[in-house]
Amino acid sequence: MRRLEPHRQGITEAVSLLRDGQVIGLPTETVYGLAACAGQPAAVSLVFLAKDRPAFDPLIVHVAHRTPTSAVDSVADLSRLDTVGRERFSDLAQTFWPGPLTFVLPRHSNIPDLVTAGLPTVAVRMPDHPVTQALLREFGGPLVAPSANRFGRISPTRPEHVIAELDGKVPAVLDGGPCRVGLESTIVAIGADGTVRLLRPGGVPRASLEAVVGPVEHGQGTAIEAPGQTPEHYAPGTPSQLLPSAIEDVQDWGPFAHGRPVGVLRVFGDLDPARQVLSTRGLQVVDAHSLSVGGDAAEAAQRLFATLRALDEGPAEHLLFEPAPNEDGLLLAIMDRLRRASARAVVFAGPRE
Ligand code: TXA
Ligand code: MG
Repeated sequence: MRRLEPHRQGITEAVSLLRDGQVIGLPTETVYGLAACAGQPAAVSLVFLAKDRPAFDPLIVHVAHRTPTSAVDSVADLSRLDTVGRERFSDLAQTFWPGPLTFVLPRHSNIPDLVTAGLPTVAVRMPDHPVTQALLREFGGPLVAPSANRFGRISPTRPEHVIAELDGKVPAVLDGGPCRVGLESTIVAIGADGTVRLLRPGGVPRASLEAVVGPVEHGQGTAIEAPGQTPEHYAPGTPSQLLPSAIEDVQDWGPFAHGRPVGVLRVFGDLDPARQVLSTRGLQVVDAHSLSVGGDAAEAAQRLFATLRALDEGPAEHLLFEPAPNEDGLLLAIMDRLRRASARAVVFAGPRE
């Protein structure tokens, strides 16, 4: 896989690959995406193929930011919004676009069915990354882009992660450096009656949405609306478990002490006290990471996926995740990812000792 430089020539090369119906890795402020021209069904099908993604899981369409074009006009070719829905969309988009917020809106009939998995809705987002915005403007049309990982695996937040996931399957990745947010976009559905429902927690906290439009319902879990929200997602290959509480407060280590070298992830705080507790419980800690020693949620989000990847590649044969102290702000999305990353049942061939 070639690494394209984030300058004029690299962007021009990326545009010509996309026009040619090819698929490339590209940076966004959330995670790296795997992009193709939204209007070319053959190119879109290559995205599903490269990711090994089931065709029932629809893609997000990414649009360019062009001043003074309004958000409503930016999605005019993709979505038909009635008056109430348009107002809600417009209020939120004005505040959060370009940025880590995706809208699920009633779709326009000219979008290929493959993009929306045949649903009556389409997911749209205006990413906030200067390189990708330059690319979108030069390309001159919308791009589909799911996260650039193999289906169900850890999302990439650096170009080298895209190479590790998809080398040999796509020709190039546009290098935009490490992602600023580190978690996927928040997804909301705007109903015809103007209701706003949260389908996936992400880079824009729920409270920030509510400050603009009032109460946001939790709309997760319906098969039609969030088909990609399978419980086993973002998963390391190493067996992983989420602890029921802070490490210091775990009463029964029985379900978590498997006698194998363990890797530990803390969301906040120092590692030393955690290591001490674990070693007095007889666990052999061979790898440990704190996402933010100082308790900064944005820093924790930014480091989450790279840390999961490092733990997965490290010496540990078993991973333990300590839950965040609460689920406020970005911590809701971090906990959502940790729950999914540890959703697969932990099965060992047999006891070691
Ligand atoms: O931050 C992001 O959103 C990244 C970057 C690359 O933009 N993209 C991303 O795409 O996370 P992906 O495909 O990994 O996740 C998109 C999610 C999937 O769970 C999919 O099922 C859901 O969006 N989705 C797409 N279209 C939908 C629709 N019409 N209705 C409901 N959910 C939809
Ligand atoms: Mg994904």
